[in-house]
Amino acid sequence: MTVHSTLAAPTVDLREAWLEAHSDWGPGLHEDGFGLTADDDVATEQGFSDWIDRLRGDTMCTYRWMVEGERVLGGIALRHGTEKDIERLGHLGYGVRPSERGRGVATGALADMLEVAASLGFSEITAVCEVDNCASIATLEHAGGELLDRRVAEVRYRISVAR
Ligand SMILES: CC(C)(COP(=O)(O)OP(=O)(O)OC[C@H]1O[C@@H](n2cnc3c(N)ncnc32)[C@H](O)[C@@H]1OP(=O)(O)O)[C@@H](O)C(=O)NCCC(=O)NCCS
Repeated sequence: MTVHSTLAAPTVDLREAWLEAHSDWGPGLHEDGFGLTADDDVATEQGFSDWIDRLRGDTMCTYRWMVEGERVLGGIALRHGTEKDIERLGHLGYGVRPSERGRGVATGALADMLEVAASLGFSEITAVCEVDNCASIATLEHAGGELLDRRVAEVRYRISVAR
């Protein structure tokens, strides 16, 4: 079954839903696309709210959550930082909660994020992932991604943004 989630800006209103999704990933900092760092204290109401404020105020990155009804399915981030960072990390980062993978969630979210990129004035974006990350590579290729180069264990893709 293909699921088409909608993209939502990070919000405290989805705290319960986000925490429920967070438990799906389990302990550790492996939620790609959420901009979560070891300094963020998402377990407390204040810490969560501070984290959301940081994400919303980040001028170097646009964060969106993949939401289906009352549930958070994943996160996707579009970096627009320094050329050096983009060269190393690419513009895109994304992750889907483990229990929702393989249902088209990332593919749909990436298509929607390309519209966000267009509204921000991008003509193309890049993504970097591990050479053996077949799911991510398939997601990028579904969005029209073309292989730009390979650097040891990573590949870099370019996706045109229609405007
Ligand atoms: C990469 C990721 C976001 C894909 O999310 P998803 O919602 O499962 O992706 P989709 O369901 O849209 O599937 C996209 C494609 O990947 C393929 N795919 C999914 N899981 C796969 C797997 N384990 N192995 C190979 N291909 C896989 C799907 O079959 C689909 O291709 P198809 O339509 O040609 O069959 C998800 O696996 C994830 O969160 N991984 C960990 C974080 C990560 O790697 N982020 C990207 C960093 S660059």
